[in-house]
Amino acid sequence: MAILDVVQIGHPVLWEHAKEVDASEIVTPETQQLVADMVETMRAAPGVGLAAPQVTKSIRLFVGEALPSKRRPDASPMELLVIFNPVITVLDRTWNEDWEGCLSIDRSGMWGKVKRYQRVRIEGLGPDAQPVVRELEDFHARIVQHETDHLDGILFFDRIYERLKKREQPVIASFDNYTHFYRTNKADQSSTMATEASDTQAADTEH
Ligand code: NI
Repeated sequence: MAILDVVQIGHPVLWEHAKEVDASEIVTPETQQLVADMVETMRAAPGVGLAAPQVTKSIRLFVGEALPSKRRPDASPMELLVIFNPVITVLDRTWNEDWEGCLSIDRSGMWGKVKRYQRVRIEGLGPDAQPVVRELEDFHARIVQHETDHLDGILFFDRIYERLKKREQPVIASFDNYTHFYRTNKADQSSTMATEASDTQAADTEH
């Protein structure tokens, strides 16, 4: 196991459309090692998601996990998800707007207020190359939308650009300014996760 370097915005690999992974490639020792290293890297960051392009592998793979912590003992957990070739189906098109960070956008903490769908189904192949299907909502749905975006070369900046131009509301902030000016006291999970992520100045919804 090894902690991998996470590349930052501006690295060309983050703009590529990542390649599908054949089932026969998933079970190779090399790919299994990559999965193990990505899980370790995500947990060490700490982050709640990590996509293969962020560690310079332009393949359709991400890992995600959100666990209760000392700070959030009641948070609903998202157990470890390792998924290749994920396809998202939107189940509830209600926009869920909240702040998120990304391990590839300034580790010191540049955050964006991003609209994501409320509820989605994600389907793909697991680390054993067998089908995986999960239905997720709220913060967990946010995680998989953020990570799947990485596989299409999309960063959260791309998702806030139009609203940034309209100047209707602040949609980008350093983490310190997000906590100072925009963090609400609502007890919803996204906010508490964002709060926790701030403690280490590094988080990914994906990130
Ligand atoms: Ni990210």
